[in-house]
Amino acid sequence: MDYLSKRTKMCAEFSAENIGERYTVLGFIGKYRNLGNLIFVDLRDRTGLLQISFEEGACGEEVFRKAEKLRNEFVVAVSGVIRSRGEKNINRNLPSGEVELSAESLDILSEAEVPPFVISELAEVGEVTRLKYRYLDLRRGSLQANIQMRSKLCHLVHSYMDGKGFLDIDTPCLGRSTPEGARDYLVPSRVHHGEFYALPQSPQIYKQLLMIAGFDRYYQIAKCFRDEDLRANRQPEFTQIDMEMSYADCEDVMGVAEGLIREVFGKLIGVKLPEKLRRMPYAEAMDRFGSDKPDTRFAMELTDVSNVVKSCGFSVFESTVAAGNKVKCINAKGLAAKYSRKEIDKLTEFVKDYGAKGLAWISLKEEGVTSSFAKFLSEGSLDAILAAANAEKGDVVFFVADKYSVVSAALGALRLKIAKDHGLIPAGSFDFLWVTEFPLLEYSEEEGRYVAIHHPFTAAMDEDLPLLDTDPLKVRSKAYDLVINGEEAGGGSIRIHTPEMQSKIFNLLGFSDQDIVDRFGFFVEAFRYGAPPHGGLAFGLDRLVMLLTGAESIKDVIAFPKMQNACCLMSDAPSPVEPKQLTDLAIAVTKEEK
Ligand code: AMO
Ligand code: AMP
Repeated sequence: MDYLSKRTKMCAEFSAENIGERYTVLGFIGKYRNLGNLIFVDLRDRTGLLQISFEEGACGEEVFRKAEKLRNEFVVAVSGVIRSRGEKNINRNLPSGEVELSAESLDILSEAEVPPFVISELAEVGEVTRLKYRYLDLRRGSLQANIQMRSKLCHLVHSYMDGKGFLDIDTPCLGRSTPEGARDYLVPSRVHHGEFYALPQSPQIYKQLLMIAGFDRYYQIAKCFRDEDLRANRQPEFTQIDMEMSYADCEDVMGVAEGLIREVFGKLIGVKLPEKLRRMPYAEAMDRFGSDKPDTRFAMELTDVSNVVKSCGFSVFESTVAAGNKVKCINAKGLAAKYSRKEIDKLTEFVKDYGAKGLAWISLKEEGVTSSFAKFLSEGSLDAILAAANAEKGDVVFFVADKYSVVSAALGALRLKIAKDHGLIPAGSFDFLWVTEFPLLEYSEEEGRYVAIHHPFTAAMDEDLPLLDTDPLKVRSKAYDLVINGEEAGGGSIRIHTPEMQSKIFNLLGFSDQDIVDRFGFFVEAFRYGAPPHGGLAFGLDRLVMLLTGAESIKDVIAFPKMQNACCLMSDAPSPVEPKQLTDLAIAVTKEEK
């Protein structure tokens, strides 16, 4: 047979309608079974699987002998006729499961060694091996589907943003540091020894300069680099859907972003968004859910019992309230029976990771009430606490007493853990929420100064401007995050657009006038030559793909991801370089760790 890559249909596209028709298919060999006079193989391409049968009577002896040599991952071209598998052999799990290709010719395009693992969703293979042979693991159907979803998302973003009049403009990767709160990846200059480019943590500065340059509406699917600790939803190199618009207020930016998300979820996975997405101020999110990205698909909200326990007899609670701190609780409804002492001890260890000193509890099991602190309570206090927590028989209530931030972090995380452990989150449901009115600043004990919650270019809410001089921590900003199922899918803000205000904020953040000139001089100067009011937002593209595909890890939606320690196991990056390269860069390595 002449192989001329003349594929006439993809594997998953066949159905009973094609019976009797002749086709050529191309792909990898998956499963194969040799029954002596009959050979079945599964052919795999990026759409899925097609069963192929080789019968000596149909394909002739020469082709049959060749088919006997087929092994996993051989790359082949096969031509033949589509026929029914027969009622009892139908595989309802496959789109092409009603039919098979009865082969007439076979071309082996490439042989394959025995792969280090079987390409199957079911194969139990460690992550290290999978990532080392990423190109093989990517052949799996679920990863193929994720990467294809990613491509569709990008395509939709381009057409939606173009339709709204946004220009796709790319910005440099070799530039100056943009402060987004993480550590920079640096690139040494060969021409200017001792000087470094910083890879962008985001295109923030450039996109604002594009507004000053008069482009009005910009977007970009942009690579961002942040040298920070990795988690299940974080990579050192990730992708943003970045946008900026001139003459815009919060409503304008949120409107465009909401429209994009509506289009994406509707067109890609058929999820219809409500007419207008819900909004919740930051303070309310923290009070009710202990998080600025609350998962509102289930209740179990935080209840403030500080007033109820301020003289309850339990010294931990009393002293906490006396010091101006908080006692809050969550009620795990109907879960008392699930939490033995041992299980509760595990939760106590869990909340300690969030800074809590302990976890007090009341369990209302069928057989009676038990508690870690009821014995200390004065007459009537237990009932008052249970009433405040809305606790009934069958419930278990957990309390944390501490600073507001610790109580929120600990109970916010515990709430999520209990919900996940006991399946309280309805599968397949989606919940979209704008979190607004973020504080502009927070105080960093570590750095001994104020730091920007979003970034230093974010504008304050007009009504809070007077507080900038008197009580900066009370100032709310024109920042907004879109939270989907408890994930921060995107965030942005209206920007400062006068040089005076920008300098004032830099000063508040502890930058001296000289620092400002040194680090952001070109940026602040640009605002002196006419800057339209502007604002924007960036979605985490990888996180959107995770939500669209249900992937648990960000690694499953990126073709070539990094490990936890920021290494690429496949290419072994980062790696040492030739001494000559270091000499050219005038760099001396003082300590090698590998
Ligand atoms: P921010 O820092 O909130 O804002 O980032 C925007 C979105 O990018 C995603 N994201 C990440 N995704 C994967 N891995 C990471 N390490 C990572 N870090 C962030 C999140 C986040 O919501 N310049 C501003 C946007 C603006 O103001 O317009 C910015 O970068 O989904
Ligand atoms: P103790 O008297 O230290 O044994 O504490 C009694 C109970 O209170 C235990 O369940 C502790 O885990 C819990 N506890 C101690 N400190 C705190 C705190 N700051 N917040 C919540 N519970 C606490």
